[in-house]
Amino acid sequence: MDTALTRLVGVRHPIVQTGMGWVAGPRLVSATANAGALGILASATMTLDRLRTAIAEVRCRTEAPFGVNLRADAADAGDRVRLIIDGGVRVASFALAPSPELIAELKAAGVVVIPSVGARRHAEKVAAWGADAVIVQGGEGGGHTGEVATSVLLPQVVDAVRIPVVAAGGFFDGRGLLAALAYGAAGVAMGTRFLLTSDSTVPDAVKARYLAATVRDVTVTRAVDGLPHRMLRTDLVAGLERSGRARSLLHAIRRAAGFRKLSGLTWRQLVQDGLALRHGRELSWSQVLLAANTPMLLRSAMVDGRTDLGVMASGQVAGVIDDLPSCAELVDRIMKEAEETRDRLMALK
Ligand SMILES: Cc1cc2nc3c(=O)[nH]c(=O)nc-3n(C[C@H](O)[C@H](O)[C@H](O)COP(=O)(O)O)c2cc1C
Repeated sequence: MDTALTRLVGVRHPIVQTGMGWVAGPRLVSATANAGALGILASATMTLDRLRTAIAEVRCRTEAPFGVNLRADAADAGDRVRLIIDGGVRVASFALAPSPELIAELKAAGVVVIPSVGARRHAEKVAAWGADAVIVQGGEGGGHTGEVATSVLLPQVVDAVRIPVVAAGGFFDGRGLLAALAYGAAGVAMGTRFLLTSDSTVPDAVKARYLAATVRDVTVTRAVDGLPHRMLRTDLVAGLERSGRARSLLHAIRRAAGFRKLSGLTWRQLVQDGLALRHGRELSWSQVLLAANTPMLLRSAMVDGRTDLGVMASGQVAGVIDDLPSCAELVDRIMKEAEETRDRLMALK
């Protein structure tokens, strides 16, 4: 299927595997790229050195285009952008809107810039600043998320901007891809569906929790870091939601002490990271600490397999996914289903 997305980034299929912290590493990204879709490395949870080796690893495993997701507000965003340019990475993806200067620098070097947005006005803003395309994530999507469902947000954004729009939040099959194309999108981006593949390095015990989840086991909470965050409902989440201000501050400090050791961050860096997230938002001090810890909470689950201690970010689609195909099987299946759906619709009188 030839769409504005496949033409823009040079992939065979209009499917994107999004940048998920601790999940979207070289193995998943290269498997996605070799399957003909766009894989995006998650770099916000990597050190600069790790990002350099991860880009090299993907390059070793595939000749197909791939992307890197980064935080525009990271202190070393400039260094990361240079790694992307020097490493010949095709796509730069951003969780928060990048500045016009950053977009211009990447575009001048031939890198395609695709920010993720959760609201029409953000899509309009990055389009005006020169972004090549946008990923628009509806509220059913995993991780930090908004309130507006994909079925409402997507047509709103498609009507508002002239650049290609990639739909995210709630996609897992070929019917969804065709529905997104019908709304005017140029493709779909999926997080949870790619997490649940045999190529994803997430520990089996964690994958099993996702597979067992029903749609009602996926919740949105502000208790972890003060921002609406979609994840599996666990005892940890319930505990954070129940605990009062004083208890949650104590909890946050205790957790921060443990994670500070693990991450090698100083207390100062930890608080600075939390404050960057707090910027412009009403977060309590315990939430500031927890916000800084969010990547480590995610790591506990996604790397260490601790379903009791970790945060398992998830889209609602976890409730309808019950298998672990390889990326190649998944992409082939989705494209086949999309073609069958298209034929079925063409036959409608
Ligand atoms: C485990 C997990 C980790 C995520 N980490 C990030 C991240 O580091 N940066 C980011 O921009 N989005 C992150 N997201 C959001 C995804 O990139 C994507 O937008 C979302 O999963 C799409 O919704 P879906 O899960 O319904 O496919 C994460 C999502 C999940 C499920």
